[in-house]
Amino acid sequence: MSYRLAVIGGDGVGPEVTAQALKAAHAAADRYGFAMSTTDYDLGGRRYLRTGEVLPEAVEAELRGHDGILLGAVGTPEVPPGVLERGLLLRLRFAFDQYVNLRPVRLYDGVRSPVAGLTPERCDMVIVRENTEGLYAGAGGVVYRGTPREVATQESLNTRHGVERVVRHAFALAARRRSRLTLCHKTNVLSYAGDLWQRTMDEVATDHPGVSTDYVHVDAMCLYLVTQPERFDVVVTDNLFGDIVTDLGAAVQGGLGVAASGNLNPTRSAPSMFEPVHGSAPDIAGKGLANPVAAVLSAALCLSHLGETRAAAAVEAAVAAVLPRLGAMAGPEMGYSTEEIGDLVAQAVVSPAAVPADAPADKGV
Ligand code: NAD
Ligand code: IPM
Ligand code: MN
Repeated sequence: MSYRLAVIGGDGVGPEVTAQALKAAHAAADRYGFAMSTTDYDLGGRRYLRTGEVLPEAVEAELRGHDGILLGAVGTPEVPPGVLERGLLLRLRFAFDQYVNLRPVRLYDGVRSPVAGLTPERCDMVIVRENTEGLYAGAGGVVYRGTPREVATQESLNTRHGVERVVRHAFALAARRRSRLTLCHKTNVLSYAGDLWQRTMDEVATDHPGVSTDYVHVDAMCLYLVTQPERFDVVVTDNLFGDIVTDLGAAVQGGLGVAASGNLNPTRSAPSMFEPVHGSAPDIAGKGLANPVAAVLSAALCLSHLGETRAAAAVEAAVAAVLPRLGAMAGPEMGYSTEEIGDLVAQAVVSPAAVPADAPADKGV
């Protein structure tokens, strides 16, 4: 097999962590005997400031021709908020119909969670975030801008089609895991959207009698995510709630340095895109202080999506083997630079000793 990956390093720490993710992916390709070619795309703040371009149509068309996309991060203080985030990241998620944003929240052995006493057995969930609708759809507008009468609206779009497809994906994933699916919403206040989500959940549940279902309001979700993460196996939620609770999830699992995500187009009508949950971290960019593990684990999700499940499991096992050696999950306290961590992980992918024979099988995305 041979795969063509597009690589968008982007801004800030994006290129630094993506380079390490590629090292691990190439090591896995060598070990498991498949070929992987990569094409770098110069997109993000530098290109925008130089040319005024965010995502030319011809580039979007080229990206579409790849088997997958690895993205570092976009957004930089020199560019007004939203230009790159909406114009590049959200545009790709929408254009390529990546309607599932898969965000595992897993505490690895040897990683200290800020939640006192939390153990890996109690923290292993996947948050399935709807990725094409809700408040992110861009519906709304402004009238009387800049006057005392200014009105701004931002509408949450929820279609039956959009909600049902992500809920179905979450049920199927739960069926491959511990068979528990939680809907996270705010049905007590957002009664129109919440009702659509809950009815859809109830209807799809009848097709999955083996999966038990539960509901939590998003505010309570924030509480339980910290106090009882073992409550959750798969969680399905709307776009904005998913954005917010996955940063909290990242904190619980040891920080943004270890939180991975995949923007999936499960129909495969266009490429899926894999990126860490974190952003461009301008405060630490260029200093070798970023933890590349989130980007590496995102590349593992990519390999899994491509069907290279043994390679994906090997990359995850390599990360699991390296994490206990780090003094912290971010900054100088890690004890190694971004690049050194990337080297350790790539070595652990190559060396079979780093991957226990009983490495858990990748469950696929
Ligand atoms: P951020 O995730 O970039 O940073 C938040 C904090 O986490 C910072 O203190 C940062 O140093 C730290 N951090 C982030 N990644 C880290 C890593 N790998 N290792 C160690 N520490 C890490 O969020 P922000 O500061 O709110 O946003 C900065 C920019 O990134 C903004 O322009 C924002 O829009 C953008 N952003 C982009 C994405 C994306 O491209 N997927 C995601 C989130 C934010
Ligand atoms: C994320 C980011 C993005 C989001 C931004 C940068 C558009 O925060 O991937 O979590 O809100 O989805
Ligand atoms: Mn976010």
